[in-house]
Amino acid sequence: MIESIHGLHGVGFGGDYNPEQWDDDVRLADIDLMREARVSVVSLAIFGWASIEPREGSYDWSWLDTTMDRLHGAGVRVSLATATASPPPWLTRKHPEILPRTADGSVLSPGARQAYSVSSRTWRDYAVRMAVAVAERYRDHPALALWHVDNEIGCHVPHDYSDSAAEAFRSWLQRRYGDIDTLNAAWGTAFWSQRYGDFADVLPPRAAPSHSNPTQQLDFARYSSDELLSYYVELRDAIRPISPGVPITTNFMCTSATKWMDYRRWAAEVDIVANDHYSIAADADREIELALSADLTRGVAGGRPWLLMEHSSGAVNWQPRNRAKGPGEMMRNSLAHVARGSDAVMFFQWRASQAGAEKFHSALVPHAGRDSQMFRDAVDLGAAVTALAPLTGSEVQSRTALIWDYEAWWAVELDAHPSADVEYMDRMRALHAALWRRGITTDVVGSTDDLRGYDLVIAPTLYLVSDEGAANIAAAAERGATVAITYFSGIVDPDDHIRLGGYPGAFRDLLGVRVDEFFPLLDGEITTLDDGTSADLWSERVELAGAEPVRTFTDGPMAGRPAVTRRQVGSGAAWYVATRQDEAGTAALVDALIAESGVQPTLDAPAGVEAVRRVGEQGSFVVVINHTEEAVPIDLTGTELLTGAATEPGYKVEAGACAVIQEA
Ligand code: GLA
Repeated sequence: MIESIHGLHGVGFGGDYNPEQWDDDVRLADIDLMREARVSVVSLAIFGWASIEPREGSYDWSWLDTTMDRLHGAGVRVSLATATASPPPWLTRKHPEILPRTADGSVLSPGARQAYSVSSRTWRDYAVRMAVAVAERYRDHPALALWHVDNEIGCHVPHDYSDSAAEAFRSWLQRRYGDIDTLNAAWGTAFWSQRYGDFADVLPPRAAPSHSNPTQQLDFARYSSDELLSYYVELRDAIRPISPGVPITTNFMCTSATKWMDYRRWAAEVDIVANDHYSIAADADREIELALSADLTRGVAGGRPWLLMEHSSGAVNWQPRNRAKGPGEMMRNSLAHVARGSDAVMFFQWRASQAGAEKFHSALVPHAGRDSQMFRDAVDLGAAVTALAPLTGSEVQSRTALIWDYEAWWAVELDAHPSADVEYMDRMRALHAALWRRGITTDVVGSTDDLRGYDLVIAPTLYLVSDEGAANIAAAAERGATVAITYFSGIVDPDDHIRLGGYPGAFRDLLGVRVDEFFPLLDGEITTLDDGTSADLWSERVELAGAEPVRTFTDGPMAGRPAVTRRQVGSGAAWYVATRQDEAGTAALVDALIAESGVQPTLDAPAGVEAVRRVGEQGSFVVVINHTEEAVPIDLTGTELLTGAATEPGYKVEAGACAVIQEA
């Protein structure tokens, strides 16, 4: 097995390092400060191309050579980038055809970053050339620990509608369908005179007079994710033979905000999953969203440890109002990622830029320099991360699964649906949050993943599902698990064709319900359930066909009809939720699911105390994060790694503090 970061023992600590932005006296100071903060790994040369090759064919490696040597001297391992994350200006002037286009045909110009089309052969040739040049130069450098291909591939341009993309899309469709009639059947082109006679007639879903064909849109999403991934694979395969044995990855954006890359497919191509996560300032539940994103990342990584490649030490610069973190928040955020499976705590970035579009983005070394709260916190965090070495490689324990399929997300949010307000992340976040508040650790897995280890399986808004996925979920209930599915699930097959005979198509038999018409609620319309909780957004005419009603609508178009149902399935059960419950209703539902399935919280602790268990070769570890404003006693016996203290039942975790207990 390839080590996660070559030569790194313990949990990695560091971040993006951009020495090309600084004079040498600052770079020298950086090395001292990195030692002081116990930095063990940095990502280098991500945006290095224009500094390495300022004019075509004329290379200046000196700054990178010196930096690699100095970092090695300080014991810092390097996640070395291919330097391809943004083309240098000479390249886009010489080859403007490499620029991507939006759906309305606008060219995305250079001047920011990522101004390239991954479908442009010219761009790929240049990118491969640069990646190979970097790999050949540093293949034997002792600091080289990991290859970082490009950067957040697809971040700014998840969809490219250029002519080179159109060509690549057609090739992808030819591979998927083989012949044009199969495509016509899949896309339902008997509708609106859309039947194709030849693949040459097919285009990306560019700006059109009305709703574009939904399957064309869905396939374009699939193609776009695959096309971006194939760009990663091409660069990876170019550098692999040059430095065999050095692991290769690229930083994902496995978060509740990043829709367009199917990271489950991507994960198969990286040696270790690396992830970037940024909280949204306006999100009141941001620490729960962080947990969901980290749980997803772990799911994408197949339950194995992963690397937090970037997060922020404080405010970012790209939201309308950029909130600074409160006291202890950088530590809590960092350890929350570790709790959920990360074996690294890394940041964007090491030193705050003096110029450029990210100059107001926080960093471990802020504009104020060493004498700052931020740097003191970074030093404390570096010490804490260093103390976590024993848990490296351990795996998170969970008996609860939330089903998350990227294709279902893409499909459910297409246009021309019963309600534009149905959002995939809405129930995903609400149900995950209700579990989080009860201290339940949740795995986030795909509909066709192995569900045998789970006692509770929840599928929110699984609009698109394959026969295999639906059967897999049903089998979980048959084996004895409690399964819960929310409205607008099981509606279409992978071609986005309706499953006929009544909703919720793929799950009708499992759930023991049949729906013949949806009754979406209007904006602001509220309906009441018989336990006094409210619901909005969605209702539907549910007929019972084997299920029992659990909750009923007491008003609105569905008054007297079931809103929540349950069907006994062998020793398991299948629950259906036919409306969007409010927070109290969702909490009551989740409490019933927890009670029935028997899943247990990691700790008996008040809401707001996050606790996750990781188990590995060196034992069992519970990471405890106290988000509350009170000290909280915990009943764990062992050693607290951050302080080295022995713990006994009643050990107090202070308000806002963290503890990592190695259990006795
Ligand atoms: C992304 C990028 C970084 C930086 C940060 C800012 O994660 O990978 O280069 O721009 O966003 O938050």
